[in-house]
Amino acid sequence: MRDVAIIGIGMTKFGELWEKSLRDLAVEAALKCLADAGTDRIDSITIGCMTGGLFNGQEHLASLIPDYLGRRNTPAVRVESACASGGMAVRAAFMEVASGMSDYVLALGVEKMNDVSGDLATAALATAADGDYEAFHGINFPGLYALMARAHMEKYGTTREQLALVAVKNHRNGALNPHSQFPMEITVDTVLKSAGVADPLCLFDCSPVTDGAAAVLLTTVDEAKKLGKQPLVVISGIGAATDTIALSQRKDILKLEAIELAAQRALKMAGKTIKDIQFAEVHDCFTIAEIMVIEALGIVEPGQGGPATAAGLTALDGKFPINPSGGLKSKGHPVGATGVAQICEAVTQLRRQAGKRQIKNAKTALTQNMGGSGGSCVIHILEAK
Ligand code: COA
Repeated sequence: MRDVAIIGIGMTKFGELWEKSLRDLAVEAALKCLADAGTDRIDSITIGCMTGGLFNGQEHLASLIPDYLGRRNTPAVRVESACASGGMAVRAAFMEVASGMSDYVLALGVEKMNDVSGDLATAALATAADGDYEAFHGINFPGLYALMARAHMEKYGTTREQLALVAVKNHRNGALNPHSQFPMEITVDTVLKSAGVADPLCLFDCSPVTDGAAAVLLTTVDEAKKLGKQPLVVISGIGAATDTIALSQRKDILKLEAIELAAQRALKMAGKTIKDIQFAEVHDCFTIAEIMVIEALGIVEPGQGGPATAAGLTALDGKFPINPSGGLKSKGHPVGATGVAQICEAVTQLRRQAGKRQIKNAKTALTQNMGGSGGSCVIHILEAK
């Protein structure tokens, strides 16, 4: 395999972007990425999008996006793995470059979720759950994560305040990020007094419904060196895994096996352990998700995610910063774009271009992107050389 570097990143602002279409968002992120890379060479395109069909009545993005990017004739493929679609698109792009199939591959993630009503958005997202055994019976993602939150509280004594502190921390970081949908600081009270969504989760425990796109340009390390890229940001490990789609089929709904396996695979490929990683962007689609993910990654012991968050471990100036971007909670969660946006943040940090949210001496990062209630997961390890 050839070594792979990320030489360009580009993102739209995340939010309710009424004046921009799905194709506008994709093209804006791609053009920003090429400008950042300082090259306009693209040999191939991979596109992460969960459901352009349900949100926008638009499938066949593998033709639409190259066409509107002015790249007709370029090979392109759409990658779908629910909310992990973006991360899986980057993995597909990595494989094309590493294998020698293509030298310059653009990985793009896009989702425009606000073109439909809130009810329809919830129903569209629920297609990532088990259609027969979950969604048909009326449960949706806030409901599924609420089940996990309640079980976590019962088994480990995790408190409502500890859940709220995940949102408080991520909004604090997101307030420093110009791309954020909700760039305001909040308090524990804001979370606890917000409207109930699915007990015990309230409005401010949930990631929002978001429009947005993100893109990264991958090439070989040799090509990146020829272009004089400094610091050189490389993808040194990737791990992916799956689990049952339905929560009810898992032996333990508090064990995110796909995340554990994807992390083991990515770290092994990079020749590292979790102790070698300085910070992570993780999939905090709900506050309980961040707590369970940092446990599954081995950053803290099972059951310690809540107390560790309360003790400041995961804060920007903590020992293991989590979601310096503001995460899905504050930055926003345009589902197919999220995995790519996480990598944009990691690269920004590794290049030391993150301004007030910069992590000191950032050299090694992990990004964790998952689909549904953990039915699929992809993890990238990035390093600045
Ligand atoms: N956090 C903070 N504020 C939010 C918010 C969120 N997640 N979502 C909406 N808001 C705000 C809106 O800006 C609006 O504020 P305003 O009255 O000051 O304008 C207000 O709350 C109501 O917004 P609305 O869009 O009507 O909310 P809603 O009730 O339709 O949707 C949720 C709220 C939580 C149900 C929706 O954001 C949601 O479904 N989130 C989860 C998405 C999801 O499941 N993603 C996949 C994960 S696997």
